Amino acid sequence: DRCILIGAPVESGQRYAGCLMGPAAYRAGKLPETLISLGREVEDRGDVIPAPARPAQIANTAVHSLPETIAWTEALGRATERAMADGFPIVMGGDHSLALGSVAGVARYAQEQGRPLFVLWLDAHTDFHTLETTQSGNLHGTPVAYLAGKPGFDPLPPFPAPVPAEQICLYGIRSIDPAEHAALLEHDIQINDMRVLDEKGIAAPLSAFLKRVKQANGLLHVSLDVDFLDPAIAPAVGTTVPGGATFREAHLVMELLHESGLVSSLDLVELNPFLDERGRTTNLMVDLVASLFGRKVFDRPTRSAG
Ligand code: ARG
Ligand code: MN
Ligand code: MN
Ligand code: MN
Repeated sequence: DRCILIGAPVESGQRYAGCLMGPAAYRAGKLPETLISLGREVEDRGDVIPAPARPAQIANTAVHSLPETIAWTEALGRATERAMADGFPIVMGGDHSLALGSVAGVARYAQEQGRPLFVLWLDAHTDFHTLETTQSGNLHGTPVAYLAGKPGFDPLPPFPAPVPAEQICLYGIRSIDPAEHAALLEHDIQINDMRVLDEKGIAAPLSAFLKRVKQANGLLHVSLDVDFLDPAIAPAVGTTVPGGATFREAHLVMELLHESGLVSSLDLVELNPFLDERGRTTNLMVDLVASLFGRKVFDRPTRSAG
């Protein structure tokens, strides 16, 4: 399957300047060349340009950049839906608010195909705020609630076909705001927080989820937030939280995803190259994508099926 690179220089979903350099960093870090070296065809469609933002109003005065977020959501939804028809979209962010659009596009495609959509959210955060509950006002903290079909997103385009709770898997969680906690108690979304992963290991809960995707013949969208990783190995992110996935844990997740053969689209989000140290976070993200596309320490031909 051909990889379709979509640049999403979005930074309006949070308050640190620099995420807009993400797509350029992935290109400088040789993401296209890396995919080609793994035998993939690559088509880089360049950076998406949203339509000019139109005024939009809501009651929660904490929320900022809502008009920009609406424009990005529309433009990225279209770009990702189109890319699904042509191959495997890799959305290079940009902050996590870009997933309001990318997952909407994937959901529309899944609906057309009559296949269920599953979402794996690799993140320190649950991103389960609505426009009404967010106190930071940063809309990168909202896409999971949006794709789960929660009300409270009004001037945003309605999410096409809400993803049922059983088809969402949050992984690596270690920061939840009180309003998110309250809302999550009323949803059956599987929350693999770090407490769970410490006890069960990084592989078992993921394998169980992948089994369900396979049984349902589902599409699987993976949204990889840089802060899923421990800040010691991935400092280039505005919202660092200690206690994240280690280098080997993160690679194992990607290796299992590759072996499953189930992943059909990917977001790379929250990379802020302005906060990086000699490109180390960009390089790690590119290496993780390489593992997702089949790079192995030692290739064992008999184990590759599945
Ligand atoms: N829960 C916090 C907030 O809403 C942090 C969200 C961080 N989200 C992210 N995609 N990094 O402000
Ligand atoms: Mn996130
Ligand atoms: Mn996060
Ligand atoms: Mn918050």
